[in-house]
Amino acid sequence: MKLFIGYASTEGQTQKIARHIMDRLVDQGHSVELSALDQAGPVDLARFDAAILGASVHVGQYQSVLSDFAETRADALNSMPTLLLSVSLAAAGHDAEDWRGLDTILTDLSEATGWVPGQVMQVAGAYEPSKYDVFRRFVMRRIIAAKDPDADLDWDKEYTDWDDLNARVDSWIADGAT
Ligand SMILES: Cc1cc2nc3c(=O)[nH]c(=O)nc-3n(C[C@H](O)[C@H](O)[C@H](O)COP(=O)(O)O)c2cc1C
Repeated sequence: MKLFIGYASTEGQTQKIARHIMDRLVDQGHSVELSALDQAGPVDLARFDAAILGASVHVGQYQSVLSDFAETRADALNSMPTLLLSVSLAAAGHDAEDWRGLDTILTDLSEATGWVPGQVMQVAGAYEPSKYDVFRRFVMRRIIAAKDPDADLDWDKEYTDWDDLNARVDSWIADGAT
């Protein structure tokens, strides 16, 4: 299968996830083109059998480069198998309100762009104070302190469950990337 993987990533975790999936799919014999969405240029999606788009949630929304990309290519995306990797810290927990928020972000994306992803994977991201400016560090410390009392607030912490991600991507591919 020939796949396009495009991602938007502010601190780098979605990029890491996208690269991980690319390596896994290539190891399985698939052909993959990986691109940051802001550098994708005029990519012709008709060259691919399926597309995986990844973006992360910041203050309740995905990066605008994802919406821009999806809006301009909604017809192509809707006519091929697609998977949205939605990376957030809400997905690391079990807070029902947080998960309803993720649903809303997704609905907003589809309403704004016209693209309805064939499948959505909510993926836990990372807390990375080493990459935040002073303001972001202050805000994120408070959030993590409330959500994860065991976390050392001074250190980066990755919440991504790689084995679970592998299993879900493998299953999507095995099902024909529907
Ligand atoms: C300023 C800021 C705002 C964030 N807002 C949210 C949010 O509203 N909901 C959420 O679940 N996660 C939020 N996060 C967590 C990110 O989604 C998480 O750190 C993710 O791993 C970032 O992925 P990236 O490195 O690919 O950008 C926020 C993180 C930062 C730094």
